[in-house]
Amino acid sequence: MSDPAPVPALVTLRDASFAYEDGPAVLTGLDFEVREGRALALLGRNGSGKTTLMRLLSGGLRPSGGELAVAGRPVRYDRKGLTRLRTTVQLVVQDPDDQLFAASVGQDVSFGPLNLGLSDTEVRARVTEALAALDITALAERPTHLLSYGQRKRTAIAGAVAMRPRVLILDEPTAGLDPDGQERLLATLAGLRERGTTVVMATHDVDLALRWADDAALLTPSGVRTGPVAEMLARTDLLAAAGLRLPWGIAAAHLLRAWGLPAGMAAVPLTPEELAAVAATGL
Ligand SMILES: Nc1ncnc2c1ncn2[C@@H]1O[C@H](COP(=O)(O)OP(=O)(O)OP(=O)(O)O)[C@@H](O)[C@H]1O
Ligand SMILES: [Mg+2]
Repeated sequence: MSDPAPVPALVTLRDASFAYEDGPAVLTGLDFEVREGRALALLGRNGSGKTTLMRLLSGGLRPSGGELAVAGRPVRYDRKGLTRLRTTVQLVVQDPDDQLFAASVGQDVSFGPLNLGLSDTEVRARVTEALAALDITALAERPTHLLSYGQRKRTAIAGAVAMRPRVLILDEPTAGLDPDGQERLLATLAGLRERGTTVVMATHDVDLALRWADDAALLTPSGVRTGPVAEMLARTDLLAAAGLRLPWGIAAAHLLRAWGLPAGMAAVPLTPEELAAVAATGL
Protein backbone atom coordinates (compact mmCIF):
# COMPACT_ATOMS: atom_id res chain seq x y z
CA MET A 1 0.00 0.00 0.00
CA SER A 2 1.35 3.44 -0.85
CA ASP A 3 1.81 6.04 1.87
CA PRO A 4 -1.04 8.52 2.25
CA ALA A 5 -0.40 11.89 0.64
CA PRO A 6 1.48 14.17 3.08
CA VAL A 7 -0.74 16.81 4.67
CA PRO A 8 0.42 20.24 3.46
CA ALA A 9 1.88 22.68 5.97
CA LEU A 10 -0.35 25.70 6.31
CA VAL A 11 1.81 27.75 8.67
CA THR A 12 5.54 27.21 8.83
CA LEU A 13 8.34 28.60 10.96
CA ARG A 14 11.76 27.95 9.45
CA ASP A 15 14.96 28.24 11.46
CA ALA A 16 13.19 30.71 13.72
CA SER A 17 14.82 32.39 16.70
CA PHE A 18 13.40 34.72 19.26
CA ALA A 19 14.52 36.52 22.43
CA TYR A 20 12.61 39.14 24.40
CA GLU A 21 14.33 42.47 24.75
CA ASP A 22 17.39 42.12 26.99
CA GLY A 23 16.49 38.48 27.63
CA PRO A 24 18.16 35.20 26.71
CA ALA A 25 17.06 33.30 23.59
CA VAL A 26 13.69 31.61 24.16
CA LEU A 27 13.65 29.73 20.86
CA THR A 28 16.61 29.07 18.57
CA GLY A 29 16.74 27.52 15.11
CA LEU A 30 13.18 26.31 15.45
CA ASP A 31 11.45 24.46 12.60
CA PHE A 32 7.74 24.12 13.18
CA GLU A 33 4.74 23.32 11.01
CA VAL A 34 0.99 23.51 11.44
CA ARG A 35 -0.49 21.05 9.01
CA GLU A 36 -3.97 21.60 7.64
CA GLY A 37 -6.69 19.58 9.36
CA ARG A 38 -4.40 18.02 12.00
CA ALA A 39 -5.25 18.74 15.64
CA LEU A 40 -1.95 19.71 17.24
CA ALA A 41 -1.16 19.78 20.97
CA LEU A 42 1.81 21.87 22.08
CA LEU A 43 3.36 20.69 25.34
CA GLY A 44 6.31 21.68 27.48
CA ARG A 45 7.23 22.82 30.94
CA ASN A 46 6.52 26.30 32.35
CA GLY A 47 8.72 28.81 30.60
CA SER A 48 9.63 26.46 27.73
CA GLY A 49 8.27 28.89 25.15
CA LYS A 50 4.79 27.62 24.23
CA THR A 51 3.16 31.03 24.48
CA THR A 52 6.08 32.66 22.71
CA LEU A 53 5.82 30.13 19.86
CA MET A 54 2.09 30.73 19.54
CA ARG A 55 2.62 34.48 19.37
CA LEU A 56 5.23 33.97 16.65
CA LEU A 57 2.78 31.81 14.67
CA SER A 58 0.03 34.42 14.94
CA GLY A 59 2.20 37.43 14.16
CA GLY A 60 2.06 39.06 17.61
CA LEU A 61 5.82 38.62 17.81
CA ARG A 62 8.27 38.68 14.95
CA PRO A 63 11.11 36.16 14.83
CA SER A 64 14.53 37.79 15.17
CA GLY A 65 15.92 35.20 12.75
CA GLY A 66 14.29 32.79 10.33
CA GLU A 67 10.94 33.07 8.64
CA LEU A 68 7.20 32.62 9.10
CA ALA A 69 5.28 31.51 6.01
CA VAL A 70 1.57 30.92 5.36
CA ALA A 71 0.69 28.49 2.59
CA GLY A 72 4.28 28.72 1.41
CA ARG A 73 4.35 32.55 1.22
CA PRO A 74 6.62 34.42 3.62
CA VAL A 75 4.66 36.73 5.94
CA ARG A 76 5.29 40.44 5.55
CA TYR A 77 5.06 42.39 8.79
CA ASP A 78 3.42 45.46 7.28
CA ARG A 79 -0.24 46.31 7.79
CA LYS A 80 -1.45 44.37 4.76
CA GLY A 81 0.67 41.33 5.51
CA LEU A 82 -0.42 41.21 9.14
CA THR A 83 -4.09 41.56 8.19
CA ARG A 84 -3.67 38.66 5.80
CA LEU A 85 -2.00 36.63 8.56
CA ARG A 86 -4.76 37.44 11.06
CA THR A 87 -7.49 36.30 8.70
CA THR A 88 -5.66 32.98 8.46
CA VAL A 89 -4.33 32.48 12.00
CA GLN A 90 -6.08 33.57 15.19
CA LEU A 91 -4.63 33.28 18.67
CA VAL A 92 -6.73 33.09 21.82
CA VAL A 93 -4.57 34.01 24.81
CA GLN A 94 -4.71 32.08 28.05
CA ASP A 95 -6.30 34.76 30.22
CA PRO A 96 -9.56 36.01 28.67
CA ASP A 97 -9.18 39.27 30.62
CA ASP A 98 -6.17 40.07 28.41
CA GLN A 99 -8.39 39.72 25.34
CA LEU A 100 -11.85 41.05 26.21
CA PHE A 101 -12.30 44.78 26.36
CA ALA A 102 -15.67 45.78 24.86
CA ALA A 103 -18.71 46.49 27.01
CA SER A 104 -20.82 43.53 25.88
CA VAL A 105 -20.22 40.03 24.55
CA GLY A 106 -21.71 40.86 21.14
CA GLN A 107 -19.62 44.03 20.81
CA ASP A 108 -16.46 42.17 21.75
CA VAL A 109 -17.03 39.39 19.23
CA SER A 110 -17.84 41.90 16.47
CA PHE A 111 -14.63 43.87 16.96
CA GLY A 112 -12.37 41.77 14.70
CA PRO A 113 -14.78 41.51 11.76
CA LEU A 114 -15.59 45.26 12.02
CA ASN A 115 -11.86 45.99 11.84
CA LEU A 116 -11.65 44.02 8.61
CA GLY A 117 -14.01 46.59 7.11
CA LEU A 118 -16.76 44.08 6.40
CA SER A 119 -20.35 45.19 5.80
CA ASP A 120 -22.77 45.35 8.75
CA THR A 121 -24.67 42.37 7.36
CA GLU A 122 -21.49 40.30 7.10
CA VAL A 123 -20.35 41.33 10.58
CA ARG A 124 -23.74 40.39 12.04
CA ALA A 125 -23.67 37.02 10.26
CA ARG A 126 -20.21 36.25 11.62
CA VAL A 127 -21.06 37.28 15.16
CA THR A 128 -24.25 35.18 15.10
CA GLU A 129 -22.28 32.21 13.78
CA ALA A 130 -19.45 32.58 16.33
CA LEU A 131 -21.81 33.00 19.29
CA ALA A 132 -23.74 29.89 18.19
CA ALA A 133 -20.52 27.88 17.70
CA LEU A 134 -19.49 28.69 21.28
CA ASP A 135 -23.04 28.18 22.60
CA ILE A 136 -23.21 31.70 24.05
CA THR A 137 -25.97 33.23 21.88
CA ALA A 138 -27.97 33.94 25.02
CA LEU A 139 -25.09 36.04 26.38
CA ALA A 140 -24.87 38.44 23.40
CA GLU A 141 -26.11 41.48 25.34
CA ARG A 142 -24.40 40.58 28.64
CA PRO A 143 -21.76 43.03 29.91
CA THR A 144 -18.39 41.28 29.69
CA HIS A 145 -17.47 42.28 33.26
CA LEU A 146 -20.42 40.26 34.60
CA LEU A 147 -19.43 36.99 32.91
CA SER A 148 -18.11 33.94 34.75
CA TYR A 149 -14.57 32.82 33.95
CA GLY A 150 -15.77 30.00 31.68
CA GLN A 151 -18.12 32.40 29.88
CA ARG A 152 -15.26 34.88 29.40
CA LYS A 153 -13.14 32.07 27.92
CA ARG A 154 -15.90 31.18 25.47
CA THR A 155 -16.38 34.84 24.54
CA ALA A 156 -12.66 35.23 23.82
CA ILE A 157 -12.72 32.13 21.59
CA ALA A 158 -15.86 33.41 19.83
CA GLY A 159 -13.99 36.63 19.00
CA ALA A 160 -11.32 34.59 17.22
CA VAL A 161 -13.86 32.29 15.52
CA ALA A 162 -15.67 35.35 14.13
CA MET A 163 -12.54 36.04 12.06
CA ARG A 164 -13.16 32.65 10.37
CA PRO A 165 -9.48 31.69 10.62
CA ARG A 166 -8.11 28.61 8.93
CA VAL A 167 -5.97 28.02 12.03
CA LEU A 168 -7.23 28.63 15.54
CA ILE A 169 -4.49 28.66 18.19
CA LEU A 170 -5.57 28.31 21.81
CA ASP A 171 -3.22 28.90 24.74
CA GLU A 172 -4.24 26.55 27.55
CA PRO A 173 -7.95 26.78 26.72
CA THR A 174 -9.09 24.22 29.31
CA ALA A 175 -7.17 25.74 32.25
CA GLY A 176 -9.69 26.92 34.82
CA LEU A 177 -12.67 25.14 33.25
CA ASP A 178 -14.68 22.60 35.24
CA PRO A 179 -15.02 19.04 33.80
CA ASP A 180 -18.30 19.86 32.07
CA GLY A 181 -16.81 23.08 30.71
CA GLN A 182 -13.86 21.10 29.32
CA GLU A 183 -16.18 18.60 27.63
CA ARG A 184 -18.25 21.41 26.12
CA LEU A 185 -15.10 23.08 24.83
CA LEU A 186 -13.88 19.83 23.24
CA ALA A 187 -17.30 19.40 21.58
CA THR A 188 -17.08 22.99 20.30
CA LEU A 189 -13.60 22.38 18.90
CA ALA A 190 -14.81 19.17 17.23
CA GLY A 191 -17.56 21.20 15.54
CA LEU A 192 -15.06 23.81 14.34
CA ARG A 193 -12.75 21.10 13.03
CA GLU A 194 -15.63 19.50 11.12
CA ARG A 195 -16.13 22.84 9.42
CA GLY A 196 -12.50 22.85 8.35
CA THR A 197 -10.69 24.87 11.03
CA THR A 198 -7.28 23.56 12.02
CA VAL A 199 -6.85 23.76 15.80
CA VAL A 200 -3.60 24.07 17.78
CA MET A 201 -3.72 23.97 21.58
CA ALA A 202 -1.06 24.48 24.24
CA THR A 203 -1.75 22.40 27.31
CA HIS A 204 -0.06 20.77 30.29
CA ASP A 205 -2.69 18.04 30.34
CA VAL A 206 -1.14 14.98 28.69
CA ASP A 207 -4.36 12.97 29.07
CA LEU A 208 -6.30 15.66 27.25
CA ALA A 209 -3.62 15.89 24.54
CA LEU A 210 -3.65 12.12 24.01
CA ARG A 211 -7.39 12.10 23.66
CA TRP A 212 -7.83 15.19 21.57
CA ALA A 213 -4.81 15.67 19.32
CA ASP A 214 -3.61 13.97 16.16
CA ASP A 215 -0.07 15.24 16.64
CA ALA A 216 1.93 16.42 19.64
CA ALA A 217 4.79 18.92 19.63
CA LEU A 218 7.00 18.71 22.71
CA LEU A 219 9.21 21.66 23.56
CA THR A 220 12.41 20.29 25.07
CA PRO A 221 15.74 21.99 25.82
CA SER A 222 17.16 20.38 22.67
CA GLY A 223 14.36 21.67 20.45
CA VAL A 224 10.82 20.85 19.45
CA ARG A 225 9.85 17.26 18.65
CA THR A 226 6.65 16.66 16.70
CA GLY A 227 4.88 13.44 15.74
CA PRO A 228 1.72 11.36 16.15
CA VAL A 229 0.40 11.99 19.65
CA ALA A 230 0.23 8.36 20.87
CA GLU A 231 3.85 7.80 19.81
CA MET A 232 5.19 11.03 21.26
CA LEU A 233 3.42 10.68 24.61
CA ALA A 234 4.65 7.11 25.06
CA ARG A 235 8.30 8.22 24.78
CA THR A 236 9.47 8.47 28.39
CA ASP A 237 12.74 10.12 27.30
CA LEU A 238 10.90 12.93 25.53
CA LEU A 239 8.36 13.27 28.33
CA ALA A 240 11.15 13.66 30.87
CA ALA A 241 12.92 16.24 28.69
CA ALA A 242 9.68 18.20 28.34
CA GLY A 243 8.84 17.92 32.06
CA LEU A 244 5.69 15.88 31.41
CA ARG A 245 4.21 12.73 32.89
CA LEU A 246 3.07 9.57 31.15
CA PRO A 247 -0.63 9.78 30.23
CA TRP A 248 -2.90 7.40 32.13
CA GLY A 249 -4.22 5.99 28.84
CA ILE A 250 -0.74 4.91 27.73
CA ALA A 251 -0.02 3.35 31.14
CA ALA A 252 -3.36 1.51 31.05
CA ALA A 253 -2.65 0.25 27.53
CA HIS A 254 0.75 -1.07 28.67
CA LEU A 255 -0.90 -2.89 31.54
CA LEU A 256 -3.65 -4.36 29.37
CA ARG A 257 -1.12 -5.54 26.79
CA ALA A 258 1.08 -7.04 29.52
CA TRP A 259 -1.98 -9.03 30.59
CA GLY A 260 -2.47 -10.10 26.99
CA LEU A 261 -5.89 -8.53 26.75
CA PRO A 262 -8.06 -8.29 24.64
CA ALA A 263 -6.96 -8.76 21.04
CA GLY A 264 -9.61 -6.53 19.46
CA MET A 265 -9.21 -3.70 21.96
CA ALA A 266 -8.75 -0.20 20.62
CA ALA A 267 -5.06 0.64 21.00
CA VAL A 268 -5.39 3.01 23.92
CA PRO A 269 -8.34 3.78 26.22
CA LEU A 270 -8.55 7.55 25.97
CA THR A 271 -10.84 8.35 28.87
CA PRO A 272 -11.60 6.79 32.27
CA GLU A 273 -14.99 5.89 30.79
CA GLU A 274 -13.34 3.93 27.98
CA LEU A 275 -11.13 2.11 30.48
CA ALA A 276 -14.18 1.30 32.59
CA ALA A 277 -15.87 -0.08 29.46
CA VAL A 278 -12.88 -2.36 28.84
CA ALA A 279 -13.15 -3.57 32.44
CA ALA A 280 -16.89 -4.14 32.03
CA THR A 281 -16.34 -6.52 29.11
CA GLY A 282 -15.41 -9.09 31.75
CA LEU A 283 -11.68 -9.33 32.07
N1 LIG B 1 7.12 39.68 27.70
C1 LIG B 1 8.21 39.04 28.08
N2 LIG B 1 9.36 39.68 28.33
C2 LIG B 1 10.48 39.03 28.72
N3 LIG B 1 10.55 37.70 28.87
C3 LIG B 1 9.44 36.98 28.63
C4 LIG B 1 8.19 37.62 28.25
N4 LIG B 1 7.26 36.66 28.07
C5 LIG B 1 7.89 35.49 28.36
N5 LIG B 1 9.17 35.68 28.69
C6 LIG B 1 10.15 34.63 29.02
O1 LIG B 1 10.25 33.76 27.89
C7 LIG B 1 10.34 32.39 28.32
C8 LIG B 1 9.22 31.57 27.65
O2 LIG B 1 7.99 32.02 28.17
P1 LIG B 1 6.60 31.50 27.64
O3 LIG B 1 5.54 32.34 28.25
O4 LIG B 1 6.65 31.43 26.15
O5 LIG B 1 6.58 30.01 28.22
P2 LIG B 1 5.38 28.96 28.32
O6 LIG B 1 5.88 27.66 27.79
O7 LIG B 1 4.15 29.52 27.68
O8 LIG B 1 5.18 28.83 29.90
P3 LIG B 1 3.86 28.53 30.77
O9 LIG B 1 3.64 27.04 30.73
O10 LIG B 1 4.25 28.97 32.15
O11 LIG B 1 2.71 29.31 30.19
C9 LIG B 1 10.30 32.42 29.83
O12 LIG B 1 11.60 32.33 30.32
C10 LIG B 1 9.68 33.78 30.16
O13 LIG B 1 10.16 34.26 31.38
MG1 LIG C 1 2.29 30.00 28.37
